[in-house]
Order: sequence, then C-alpha cells, then structure tokens
Amino acid sequence: MKLKQLALISLGLMAATASFAQQKAEDLIKTRQGAYKVISWNVGRIKANVDGQFNKDEVLKAATAIQALANAGLGALYAPGTEKGVGYHETAAKPEIFDPNNKKIGEVAGNFGKEANELAKVAATGNKAAVKVQLGKLQQTCKACHDDFRQEDHHH
Ligand code: HEC
Repeated sequence: MKLKQLALISLGLMAATASFAQQKAEDLIKTRQGAYKVISWNVGRIKANVDGQFNKDEVLKAATAIQALANAGLGALYAPGTEKGVGYHETAAKPEIFDPNNKKIGEVAGNFGKEANELAKVAATGNKAAVKVQLGKLQQTCKACHDDFRQEDHHH
C-alpha cells in the first residue's frame, strides 16, 4: 500500500473516531437532561397532589420513580468529554461538576438521595401533610445542587 493511501485511511479512521466520541457525548448529555426532566415531571405530579386532590397511588409511583433515579448513579453521565456540548440543548452543567476533587458534589448528591429515599417512605404512608413537608426538603436538595453546579442562563 502506498503511503498516501495509508495516510488517507488513518485520517478517515480518526474522523470516524471523533464523530463517534461526539455522538457518545451527545447521548450522555441527552440522558442526563432527560433524567432531570423525568425527575422534574414526577416532582410536579407530587406537588399537584399535595396542593390539590391527594391520590396516594400516584404520589407513591412518582416518589418511587424519583427515588430510583436519585440512586441510579447519575454521576456517571458526567463523563470526561461532556463538559461542553449539545444534548437536547446546550448543556447547563457548570465546569465544577466535572472536578473529581470537588467534595461538594458528593455532599449534594448524597443529600438528594437521602431525601428521595425519605420521600418514598413518607409517600407509602399516604399522609398528605407529611408528603408536603418532605417534598419541600427534597426540593431544597435540587436547589443546593443547581446553585453550585448548574448555569442559570442555559437551562430550560
Ligand atoms: C447533584 C446535582 C443535581 C441535583 C441533586 C439535581 N439536579 Fe437538576 N440539574 C443538574 C445539572 C448539572 C443540570 C444540567 C444538566 C445539563 O444540561 O447537562 C440539571 C438540569 C435540570 C433540569 C433541566 C433539564 C433539561 O431539560 O435539560 C431540570 C428540570 C432539573 N435539573 C430539575 C431538578 C429537580 C426537580 C431536582 C430535584 C428533585 C434536581 N434537578 C436535582 C444538577 C442537579
């Protein structure tokens, strides 16, 4: 094989690898954005129940879904190479969330998991007032993470 042909082939491979990496990054960003959308939808369902007609089954379904996602290890979706890029839209993640030495991430993510677990427990009791209080505690953990790790101008 001639040198020129070899060079062309390896250039082609490099381009394919780069676009594969980009596709992979886009998928990861979409997945984390989608996960938060689903979490948010379920928070909204619980909020509607504590503010209006309370349906224990619906609240329990929503709380269980939030609990599952909060414990799913969403941190894995912040892989290197996904600091910038477009999923469903430009990522709103701040650079700080990609710093493996940032201890605050474990703290906020841990609190999110803890309050989500507690919400699922409280939802199982069917006590509307207690669910309302616990939903508020969970929402504090969303805010704590967003304050430090999500850009205000980018999210939808
Ligand atoms: C550990 C940090 C963390 C926690 C906890 C967290 N979020 Fe987020 N959230 C983020 C980050 C980072 C983004 C931006 C993701 C991106 O664009 O790549 C985001 C994005 C979102 C979005 C926008 C999704 C989209 O369409 O792109 C919504 C809605 C959202 N979060 C709701 C919530 C709610 C509700 C909770 C709590 C029940 C919560 N989040 C808990 C970090 C967190």
